[in-house]
Amino acid sequence: MQNTLTFLGLESSCDDTGAAIVRHTPGEIPQVLSNIVEGQTALHADFGGVVPEIAARAHAERLDHCVEAALRDANIALSDLDGIAVTAGPGLIGGVLSGVMCAKGLSAGSGLPLVGVNHLAGHALSPGLSDPISFPMLMLLVSGGHCQFLIVRGIDEFHRLGGTIDDAPGEAFDKVARLTGLPQPGGPAVEKAAQNGDPKRFALPRPLLDRPGCDMSFSGLKTAVLRARDTVISADNTLRRQDVNDLSAGFQNAVCDVLAEKTRRAIAIYLEENPTVPTLAVAGGVAANKAIRAALETVSEENGVKFTAPAMQYCTDNAAMIAWAGLLRFRDGARDDLALSARPRWPLDRMQASMLGSGKKGAKA
Ligand code: KG4
Ligand code: ZN
Repeated sequence: MQNTLTFLGLESSCDDTGAAIVRHTPGEIPQVLSNIVEGQTALHADFGGVVPEIAARAHAERLDHCVEAALRDANIALSDLDGIAVTAGPGLIGGVLSGVMCAKGLSAGSGLPLVGVNHLAGHALSPGLSDPISFPMLMLLVSGGHCQFLIVRGIDEFHRLGGTIDDAPGEAFDKVARLTGLPQPGGPAVEKAAQNGDPKRFALPRPLLDRPGCDMSFSGLKTAVLRARDTVISADNTLRRQDVNDLSAGFQNAVCDVLAEKTRRAIAIYLEENPTVPTLAVAGGVAANKAIRAALETVSEENGVKFTAPAMQYCTDNAAMIAWAGLLRFRDGARDDLALSARPRWPLDRMQASMLGSGKKGAKA
C-alpha cells in the first residue's frame, strides 16, 4: 500500500469556492498544505440569499484560480499529487457541476485519479483533520442546509438517527440576521450580537422537545423571533442595538437548548444498541458557534463521552475536508472516472427512506 498520499480537493456546492491540498501518512494527523476559500457573500448581497446561477458562474470563473493558488501556497506541482477529490453533491447543481467539470479536466489532462466526494461526508470526516478519530462515532452534522444525527461507522458508512423536519439551524441563523438587520452570513453576526444580549428577555419556544426521538424543527423558532421583533418595533417604532442583541441571545440560547436536549436523546438511542458512546462529534458551519460547541461539550461530559469538533476553519465549507475525505476513500479503493456525475441530492445514509423537503443546499439529506 502506498504510504503518504497528497490530494487536491475542490469544493463548489454552495457559495464558497475552495481548493486545498492535504497530505497524509497513515497513523499521523493529516497536514493541510494549503486551504483556499473564496466566499461569494458580496455577489449575493443584493438578493437576500444565494442565487444559484450567480453562484455557478462564479465557481466556474474562480475554480482554476483557486487551484493555482492552492498549489502555489503548498509549494508543489500538479505532478506531486496522488489524486483529485471533488464534491459531487449534494448541493446547488450548477456549482457542483462546475467543480466536477474542473476536476475531470484536471484529471484527464494530468492522468491523476479522480474521486467524487459527498459534501456531507466531507463535513462528517472533518474532525479528523485536527484530531485522530476512530469509528464508530456519534455525530451531529449541523450547517446551513443540513441538520442530522448520524452514527458514523466508517468513512463510507452512515446511519441517520434523526434530523430537522424543516429548516436547518444555519438557515435560521441567516434568517434571524436578516430580520434584525445584521449582515450575512448570519451565524457569526448573530453569535457576536448575542454576546451582549439578555437571553431571557424574550420567551422563545424550544420546538419538538415534547416529541420523543431526535427529530428537530427550527422553522417555528424563526417565526417566533419575527413576532418578538415586531412587538418591539410596534412599541416605539425602532429596533435598538440592545433589542437586536437580546433577540440574538434568546434565539441562540433556544438553538443551544434544542441541540443539547436532542443530543442527549441521540446518545440514549445509540446506547439502546451499543454498550458505550466512544465519541460525540459535531461538524458543519454551525459547529463554529462557540455557545453551541460549549453546550454539546457539557452534554458529552454529563455522559462521560469524548467530544470532538473540527478546527474553526474546517467547520464552514472548505476544500480541505473534501481533499481529506477523497484521500481516505482513495486509500479504501474508491476510484471515479469521467462518467462521474453531479448529484444535487445525495443522502449519506443509503437506507434513508425519504427525502424531507428542500433547503438552501438542496434536499435536507
Ligand atoms: O457548512 P456551511 O459552510 O454550508 C453548508 O453546507 O450549509 O454552513 C454555513 C452556515 C450558514 O448558515 C452560517 O450562518 C452558519 O453556517 N454559521 C454559523 C456560524 N458560522 C457559520 N452559525 C452559527 N454560528 C456561527 N459562528
Ligand atoms: Zn457544507
